Amino acid sequence: MRVLIIGGGGFVGHKLALRLIERGTLRGEDITHLALADIGAPKAIEADFAVTAHALDIADREAVDAILEEDWDVIYHLAAVVSAQAEEDFVAGMRTNFFGTFNILEACRMRVPTPVVVYASSVASFSTDVPQPILDWTATTPQTSYGTQKAVGELLLNDYSRRGFIDGRGVRLPTVVVRPGKPNAAASSFFSSIIREPLQGEPVMCPVATDQEVWLASPRVTVENLVKVAEIDSADLGGIRNFSLPGMTITVQGMLDALKAVGGENVLGLVDHEIDPTIEKIVQGWSSRLETDVADKLGLDRDEDFERIVRDFMETDMRPAGA
Ligand SMILES: NC(=O)c1ccc[n+]([C@@H]2O[C@H](COP(=O)([O-])OP(=O)(O)OC[C@H]3O[C@@H](n4cnc5c(N)ncnc54)[C@H](O)[C@@H]3O)[C@@H](O)[C@H]2O)c1
Repeated sequence: MRVLIIGGGGFVGHKLALRLIERGTLRGEDITHLALADIGAPKAIEADFAVTAHALDIADREAVDAILEEDWDVIYHLAAVVSAQAEEDFVAGMRTNFFGTFNILEACRMRVPTPVVVYASSVASFSTDVPQPILDWTATTPQTSYGTQKAVGELLLNDYSRRGFIDGRGVRLPTVVVRPGKPNAAASSFFSSIIREPLQGEPVMCPVATDQEVWLASPRVTVENLVKVAEIDSADLGGIRNFSLPGMTITVQGMLDALKAVGGENVLGLVDHEIDPTIEKIVQGWSSRLETDVADKLGLDRDEDFERIVRDFMETDMRPAGA
């Protein structure tokens, strides 16, 4: 089993790589080669099988063709210019999220045997402009360039699968919280910062009202679901290859209550509030209430408890004091 993670140096890609290395198998076969590709070659990771790291710009068609010259049984496409950056820089978003995705699909079209392609779409392909809750078959009506680029990728993935060029699975990720490290250019980044920074002893600004809802999932459950999604029998997917991953709906206040319950009053005191109209507008356009019938029928996992998500972050990802 040969697995390629494009975007393998990112938050989700790195965690997925660690999980695949821990499992050692995918789709019932031993993994023999795991390749991580990203705009800069990701850090090497130790494993019992070959793990290679590659610098790859997916907007460069020749470079994509070159890496896909090799046979990959499963390709995860997780590379993206994320939401706020794609909104600020239209060309950068189109270049990676649209042309990059197209390049990957086109390179896969030339491959025999047909690879399984798992594509990370986003809840941002939906909007609050249609009746809620969002169902798997609700029309995608994105209100950002990022969401539009993701939704176009979904349509292409479906058609490339229908034609037998790939065995595609497009999953709309909820906002994944708590992201470790530094804030990123996603408009949703603060959902992680308001938990991560105070627990690490740093002040943080919350840019939206505390009654703002979000549809989120933990890194642990997201990665577990990405593994399961690659393992689904294509016959169980039928003609609709895109669906939403399970998440939980919670308000910012609910998140802060969990922060206080786990970290205490002093930690909560590090959170200050000032509305950022740009972030608020983007986030208000995202649906926070989804029904995930397809994922539920396929047996995918769901977080139930935000306090557990906070505790998981403290155990696995929190920066040690003074670091
Ligand atoms: N994390 C979330 O909350 C979330 C929510 C919904 C959807 N998603 C999607 O899931 C995927 C993974 O998200 P993440 O949080 O790990 O993001 P991330 O930003 O941490 O990782 C994405 C990676 O893509 C790489 N990349 C960007 N442009 C590239 C290019 N032209 N060529 C090659 N690599 C390029 C970046 O260097 C980065 O390492 C993304 O597609 C994202 O849109 C994430």
